[in-house]
Amino acid sequence: MKTFDVCVIGAGPGGYVAAIKAAQLGKKVVVVEREKIGGVCLNCGCIPSKAMITAAHMFEKMSSLSEIGLSASNINVDMTKIQNWKESVVNKLTTGVSGLFKMNGIESIMGEANFVSAQELELNCSNGEKEIIKASNYIIANGSRPIEIPGFNFDGKNVLSSTEALTLNPTPKRLVVIGGGYIGLEIGSYLSKFGCEVTVLEANSSLLSGVVDTDCVNVVARKLKKKGVNVMLGAKAKGYKKVGNDLQVELQTEKGIQTVLCDKILVTVGRKPNSDQMNLSKIGIKVDQKGFVVVNKQLRTNISHIFAIGDVAGQPMLAHKASREGIIAAEVIAGKNAIADYKFVPAVIFTDPEIASVGLTVEEATQKGFEVATGQFPYAANGRALSVMDAEGFVKIVADKKTNVVLGVHIVGYEASNLISEAALAIEMGATLQDIASTIHPHPTLPEMMMEAAEAAMGHPIHIFLRPKTDRAARPTTRNAH
Ligand code: NAI
Repeated sequence: MKTFDVCVIGAGPGGYVAAIKAAQLGKKVVVVEREKIGGVCLNCGCIPSKAMITAAHMFEKMSSLSEIGLSASNINVDMTKIQNWKESVVNKLTTGVSGLFKMNGIESIMGEANFVSAQELELNCSNGEKEIIKASNYIIANGSRPIEIPGFNFDGKNVLSSTEALTLNPTPKRLVVIGGGYIGLEIGSYLSKFGCEVTVLEANSSLLSGVVDTDCVNVVARKLKKKGVNVMLGAKAKGYKKVGNDLQVELQTEKGIQTVLCDKILVTVGRKPNSDQMNLSKIGIKVDQKGFVVVNKQLRTNISHIFAIGDVAGQPMLAHKASREGIIAAEVIAGKNAIADYKFVPAVIFTDPEIASVGLTVEEATQKGFEVATGQFPYAANGRALSVMDAEGFVKIVADKKTNVVLGVHIVGYEASNLISEAALAIEMGATLQDIASTIHPHPTLPEMMMEAAEAAMGHPIHIFLRPKTDRAARPTTRNAH
């Protein structure tokens, strides 16, 4: 029987990062993966969706070239070529991860893993062989899967999960998206740019409800409407039937039962942790009411040599949170004093425009008892945003009015995804509004909006005019010497 210091189950952004870190720290590591190296994120999630979003964004931009004095003829969509290009992006990354495994001396085994006891794992390998392995420590990183709802069983033909939606070729004429959350809006938005008539059914009274700042959501909702996406709120999908060549989706609204016709249905109503697999319950791993494996701050389960990270170990189900946890688990196994002690996990939704946020919203900060100062700066007043033709949206900073410590940042607009890291660092470091405002930001760039939003929260932005407030003079705009 082969023995290892660390066995990682699942090679997504949680598992593969954990494996590499553990190997770097001198451990003998094996990774077991039943589908594809790179997991959902690299193969059928974050990465392919971003490739498709980029292609759709470019196509849309090309349609407005004449606004800036350029012209081009024959702008066409060749979906087969786009899909091939998307696959090439995925392949570069997954091949890269496999290469890193080799270079770090990590053994990787393709196959399905099941615990036979808390000490041993049985592998049903893809090559048909069975194998038992033993490791001193296990890291469960087996992820999550899409939730199915009654009346809409995934069949890959009429009712699709995000995995199949990302490979649609040709683009369907009409699509109903059930669930106006992260995935539904990302995929629905890009398919509409490729000419698909999209209807989003959302059971809640708003899109992305409870996930992000409401003002940010409103900007995206307005743009969806402008671009012809039909968003139906308070609409709960009940079932569908085939009527001739059409699919007829039935939905419950406050006006009663309604129907929408379409060619394909995409169901994106959330994901559930894969904690019901691998015999986890049989060996006594504790799972909470929502199905997440219970872990402590070191990411140990109730069986202390078995760790769990990523989607299976709790919200938020985000790749970068999984990767961070992978590093922490590997470090703990290597005897380091690591714990999951980050304050907040930044989140990005790749809608049009993008939404990115970290930390508390105004409502959350107020609920926690803070007296809140907010500053908002519009993209429309930023030179760079105007010159790249993407000037809708804003940067909003939420701070503690007493101390000026930054509590949250919420951005909706072009490249919000690439702006949020400065905010994440600021919050992790306990930065104040003055720290951000006093940091020289290069001109002309989008991050200048962070500096201006910080100034706005103190009442003194340069490039927008705010009506004077009585307490403004009392709020210093430069950092004290320290
Ligand atoms: P979600 O939880 O973001 O949204 C699901 C939505 O479906 C909710 O708003 C819910 O009210 C609605 N819903 C549920 N049942 C319904 C019904 N019968 N009819 C109409 N609406 C219904 O779930 P989603 O979009 O599937 O994403 C899952 C997770 O994947 C996210 O929570 C996120 O953590 C992760 N993700 C992250 C991305 C990123 O970081 N950019 C991108 C994609 C996914």
